[in-house]
Amino acid sequence: MTSRCVFSLGLLLLPTLTWGAGSQCARSPHQVIEVCVSVQAAQGRAVFEVNRLGRAVLAASELGLDFAGEPRARYSAMAVVDRSSYDDTWEQPWGEERLIRDQHTQMVVRLKGSTPFTRSVEVTFRIFDDGLGLRYRFTAVPAGRDVAVTAEQTSFHIVGDYEAWWYQALGQERDEYLYTHTDARRITLAETPLTLKGANGLYLSFHEAALVDFPSMLLAGNGAGNLTAWLMPWPDGVLARKTGPFATPWRTVLITDSAAGLADSRIELNLNEPNKLGDVSWFEPGKYVGVWWQMHLNESTWASGPRHGATTANTERYMDFAARYGFSGVLAEGWNLGWDGDWIANGEQFSFTKSYPDFDLEAVAAYGKRLGVQLIGHHETAGAVPNYEAQLEDAMSLYEKHGVSVVKTGYVRHSGDIVDQRGGREWFAGQYMVRHNLHVAEVAAAHHIAIDAHEPVKDTGLRRTWPNMISREGARGQEYNAWGIPTNPPEHTVILPFTRMLAGPMDFTPGIFDVVHGQNDVTRRVQSTVATQLAEYVVLYSPVAMAADLPRNYEARRDAFQFILDVPADWETSKTLQGDIGLFIVVARLQRGGKDWFLGALTNEKARTLIQPLTFLTADGDYEAQIYRDGPGADYRTNPQPLTIERRRVTAHDSLTIEMASGGGAAVRFKRLSAGGIAGDSGRAAR
Ligand code: NOJ
Ligand code: CA
Repeated sequence: MTSRCVFSLGLLLLPTLTWGAGSQCARSPHQVIEVCVSVQAAQGRAVFEVNRLGRAVLAASELGLDFAGEPRARYSAMAVVDRSSYDDTWEQPWGEERLIRDQHTQMVVRLKGSTPFTRSVEVTFRIFDDGLGLRYRFTAVPAGRDVAVTAEQTSFHIVGDYEAWWYQALGQERDEYLYTHTDARRITLAETPLTLKGANGLYLSFHEAALVDFPSMLLAGNGAGNLTAWLMPWPDGVLARKTGPFATPWRTVLITDSAAGLADSRIELNLNEPNKLGDVSWFEPGKYVGVWWQMHLNESTWASGPRHGATTANTERYMDFAARYGFSGVLAEGWNLGWDGDWIANGEQFSFTKSYPDFDLEAVAAYGKRLGVQLIGHHETAGAVPNYEAQLEDAMSLYEKHGVSVVKTGYVRHSGDIVDQRGGREWFAGQYMVRHNLHVAEVAAAHHIAIDAHEPVKDTGLRRTWPNMISREGARGQEYNAWGIPTNPPEHTVILPFTRMLAGPMDFTPGIFDVVHGQNDVTRRVQSTVATQLAEYVVLYSPVAMAADLPRNYEARRDAFQFILDVPADWETSKTLQGDIGLFIVVARLQRGGKDWFLGALTNEKARTLIQPLTFLTADGDYEAQIYRDGPGADYRTNPQPLTIERRRVTAHDSLTIEMASGGGAAVRFKRLSAGGIAGDSGRAAR
């Protein structure tokens, strides 16, 4: 991986500190966002304010953390210790965009607090044209001194009327909830990314970046537009345990005038540290199939017995299918001991090295190797973290020995019921689990294994630093369309790109063709048309993209299946062309290392026609648009199957009329034509 510094002024240290209380401001590179910091000495508060193009976005919003053994700090003065500008471009080894530009203004202030640990608090603001990040450094905590954080004061005091898409945090199913859409004042306690749309035309999203060794931040509303950081505690009520001096994760706010602007922001990645793993070419993005949906449909079981899914023979059948169509991986879930009985309650019985007698790991891996297909590993922990940690090294060594380079992990356990090594009950994303998730990724990296975590701690851009943290779940995915009550309504996949997906890639597992799967009631089946299932490959980015349906359903619709084979899982660049939260979205992506563009469009339950100029295509290129769209009479409720596939010659000067059915979508491959005509298709999956 290379990182290229285009231009950097670096740190410009001011010679002497000038302490004061008055406002100190800094603006983003193109003067769009302005942040001002001040100390309100009479109230003892340090606050920041944010404007966009002269309009107030956040009114005075508090800064600070509280510590055990100290009263709440009173802040009396501040000094600016750094003002600098950055303009760097760095390269992702894989991703939705190869080259990422990091252009921001930095302002670092030092706050003078009244307590020993807050005597000198550095707050770094990085201000981008589409938002900002702020992080604390508690430099006055003596080296080696253990401290306990008891509260975080950081708040976001929203100015004006906003709508919000959110769900109540601390629910037992972690982040697997449908979003509610309310007035932002109704937020009680919300997960992040928390996305708001203003009556003033602005879009905001609150989240965090570089969540390392700290609890996840939730946001608590006060009923009047003020959101305050709320950290997931340890069992004893301490929020974070740190050793001095220490820095916190970044608190981030995206501020744009379009929903598309939120989706295309790269602040999240830019606020993470550069790659620590070096060459990760042992992980290659790709598409996979697996012994998976059949269990969710209850056609087979994870548990042993006559209906066991992950047998040697069945997994090899999937490998044959993968090889026939060029998929790079085959997932096998339920291969290991521990699934019998109530596996969610008895997670400590999972073995990560011993397989069921009817699954021969060595033989399966070798079979795949001969076919050029890799086994994708699976570690369901049921949240029994001590059991998993005790076996982690052996488990990763075993997979490495068999050439496995991607492991899907899972933590199916109610949030708050994860039992730690001391018997304490942990939240799914408190500091304990944040540490655990990174520990797993680091052990995996040492074995050249990438992690696709289900029921994860939310993504905060750590894939930049640890590029083997490839994908996550962290929302209601396709599995809910098998057995969810209700299944995901059509609006769900047009909310995700502006909420959950702002955090990073999602292993949504698209591609179900048999959307009805034997269910009469629309709220018990996949609530979409077939075209939607194809469009999800473009809209819901993941470097490992599952073709989730059963092989027989793909072979029955070979025409539609071609799009899944053609769509890549790695991109040169990505653009959200239009969209609004919960309504619709159109995304275009350029294949990495190729010339073809792909487009995905989705709508909610409303049928919709969009006009999409094709100006993103290379100006002098001719393309064949291979269009997969809702066919005549398509409707997700009554007639989800019709799909029309057509081919048309287009250039960047054309526009595409995208007609989508209720719960529908459209998927397009723009195949670059070499002078003279149309190249044939290989019939095999692209990377
Ligand atoms: C939940 C995961 O999200 C799903 O993909 C997996 O099949 C089950 N857990 C079993 O591990
Ligand atoms: Ca899940």
